[in-house]
Amino acid sequence: MVFQEGERLHLGAEAEVWAGHWMGRPAVRKQRRARSWRHPDLDHRLGHRRMMSEARLMVRMHRAGLQVPALLDLDPAEGVMVMERIPGRPLIEVLRDASMSSGQLQYALQSTGAAIRNVHRLAITHGDLSTNNVLIDDQGNATLIDFGLAVIDYEVERFGIDLHVIDEILGASHPGVENAIEHLLNGYAAEEERQGPPADQTGGAVPTSVEVLERLENVRTRVRYHG
Ligand SMILES: Nc1ncnc2c1ncn2[C@@H]1O[C@H](COP(=O)(O)OP(=O)(O)OP(=O)(O)O)[C@@H](O)[C@H]1O
Ligand SMILES: [Mg+2]
Repeated sequence: MVFQEGERLHLGAEAEVWAGHWMGRPAVRKQRRARSWRHPDLDHRLGHRRMMSEARLMVRMHRAGLQVPALLDLDPAEGVMVMERIPGRPLIEVLRDASMSSGQLQYALQSTGAAIRNVHRLAITHGDLSTNNVLIDDQGNATLIDFGLAVIDYEVERFGIDLHVIDEILGASHPGVENAIEHLLNGYAAEEERQGPPADQTGGAVPTSVEVLERLENVRTRVRYHG
């Protein structure tokens, strides 16, 4: 692979991510790490499947015109994926940055909501919506990354759960940012108003933003009463 390695961006349990260049373009290489506690064969199969699925969904979103990293190269047998490098820093850092104005935070959160809705409109649920998996550029615009747990779905439940995950994280990890989830949900709803009802996808009708927001309320209630 013609990837020129720069600095390491991330060393996690599942993946090691390096910044660098691919054919002269700013790129990142995501290398799956072996998980020693699983049998090597099983580990290989799971990792292979996850990376194939992540790559396939990234291509689907990119073709649909979404702002997601372009896939540049893929070697699933080696557990390696090269993609376009997205400028910016994770939402978690932006929310902890005391120099950000409340207007800037509000914009970044609304943009995050809009980005989530655009993914949902393609019948794709993210599956791991943490503030680490949203990148915010200098203008405050959000891009979602890390689609290793994303799936295509038409039932409203998983869409509601996506929003509930980020709701819980914003409440627990960023309690100082006022009305964070409200700004995000406003952006989610506004994106649908801007674009109109979602187009049917190959598997049928996609839940509307109103249906997903109702389901979020329902999930919140269930969690409150049953923990
Ligand atoms: N396309 C990209 N452009 C810029 N930075 C990226 C890109 N992809 C990943 N990163 C950086 O690398 C980090 C980890 O990537 P990613 O979230 O895809 O891995 P992960 O599956 O969460 O790994 P682990 O589960 O081991 O933590 C991101 O939080 C982000 O900071
Ligand atoms: Mg991640």
